[in-house]
Amino acid sequence: KLDSDQLIIDAGQKQFGATTCSSCGMVYSADNPEDNFQHTQFHQRFLDSIKYVGWKKERVVAEFWDGKIILVLPDDPKYAVKKAEEVRRIADNELGFQQVTLSQPTQAKTFLFINTDRLVVGCLVAEPIRRAYRVLEQPEQNKDMTKDDFMDRHRAWCCSTVPEQALCGVSRIWVFSLARRQTIATRMLDTVRSTFMYGSYLTKEEIAFSDPTPDGKLFATKYCNT
Ligand code: ACO
Ligand code: ZN
Repeated sequence: KLDSDQLIIDAGQKQFGATTCSSCGMVYSADNPEDNFQHTQFHQRFLDSIKYVGWKKERVVAEFWDGKIILVLPDDPKYAVKKAEEVRRIADNELGFQQVTLSQPTQAKTFLFINTDRLVVGCLVAEPIRRAYRVLEQPEQNKDMTKDDFMDRHRAWCCSTVPEQALCGVSRIWVFSLARRQTIATRMLDTVRSTFMYGSYLTKEEIAFSDPTPDGKLFATKYCNT
């Protein structure tokens, strides 16, 4: 009797044990055929999208020991614009954005963080803007679980109705799941501030995040306070 119980327990654990693919970062259950299929579908397409072969004319705007940041502008050669779009699509997909179009395609600047393995592990899209509305801190008593869950799912942050001066809007910021918490987003944002407007370094107040996700909000809060 003990043995058969044990078998059932093992089967259950196998079925529900989640694995994280060490190359594409997808979390799936390897023993579930449907999950396996989805992973196989995703894996190669994802790796192809973030692969960076290197271009003769690339605009390197920052260099680090673990990678570099390149800037892609809308009038760049087709291969560069295409790669920027490919990575943006990945980010949009993860962010749950439906439309891939930008609000001002001709003025969008795409910053890509390339690591030493020649993978695009970070993407930031910045666009010039004129004003922004500050996301208001939720009152402490409203921070119960259900409310937070609701807010998180609906991304319905309460915004101030008073417009504030801003110059640069960050419409997307994304870092590859396996490369997070290594200051890649921080370094991309620092680079945006120093290169977005010729000859001046933007203050943190001059940068605005559009429609932040919970991750994005945590990051932005930390970034803006330091
Ligand atoms: N939870 C809590 N704090 C966080 C988180 C998090 N998920 N992410 C960043 N922070 C804070 C931490 O204090 C961190 O410092 P620490 O690691 O020393 O504690 C600090 O921000 C700096 O973090 P970075 O390492 O620079 O950020 P990272 O490179 O991991 O990228 C990002 C952050 C872009 C939000 C990443 O988690 C991501 O791509 N998430 C999924 C996509 C997403 O939600 N993007 C934001 C959308 S909003 C928009 O695009 C306008
Ligand atoms: Zn994979």
